[in-house]
Amino acid sequence: MQFFLDTANIAEIRAARAWGLLDGVTTNPTLMAREGGDWRAVMRDICREVEGPVSLEAVGETADEFIAMGLDLMRNGPNVVVKIPMTPEGLKAVRVLKSKGVDTNVTLIFSPMQALLAAKAGASFVSPFVGRLDGLSQDGMQLVADIMAILRNYAMDARVIVASVRHPRHVAEAALMGAHVATVPFAVLRQMFDHPLTSAGLETFNKDWAALNG
Ligand code: E4P
Repeated sequence: MQFFLDTANIAEIRAARAWGLLDGVTTNPTLMAREGGDWRAVMRDICREVEGPVSLEAVGETADEFIAMGLDLMRNGPNVVVKIPMTPEGLKAVRVLKSKGVDTNVTLIFSPMQALLAAKAGASFVSPFVGRLDGLSQDGMQLVADIMAILRNYAMDARVIVASVRHPRHVAEAALMGAHVATVPFAVLRQMFDHPLTSAGLETFNKDWAALNG
């Protein structure tokens, strides 16, 4: 399973990379706005820091706008994946970008049908948002299971990025389902290290070691 970091923060990206846990990065306009400053420079820096795929979001309404911005985003590096929202115009853009050899990540997916349409349009990645669905008292992880089953049924190439991750259990369930990627906020990645019994056990070992050594 691949871990992408869901962030536009360079310090977080460097920390995840130092742990050997950084397979890629996903960004969106909200994450870019959180960092502030010159978003073009931030995007360029992220693409330099990361070896794997970096999703940069194209913003617009028409296919032509998504295509133009997508091609512009590609200038940040060979690892750019153009993120496109799940709309009819968005999927038109996905098809054209694919024909130009550009990888795409269709975002804001909340139903199995949306994922099927995106995969048929030629998306390289589809991103179901599990946390936002859970927030509506729906079952985000069931959506991932349904999408995985559909893609398997037809041996489709699109890879599933489990997005809008809120806690480590989302990542564990995604892994059990065989989802290709989880994109996690830095705080969730950090939480994934922890277990109270690990901390308690370590404290005891350190105390006993100190006693043993006078
Ligand atoms: C994924 O690519 C998105 O950027 C992200 O997971 C959105 O999640 P949110 O619900 O935390 O905004």
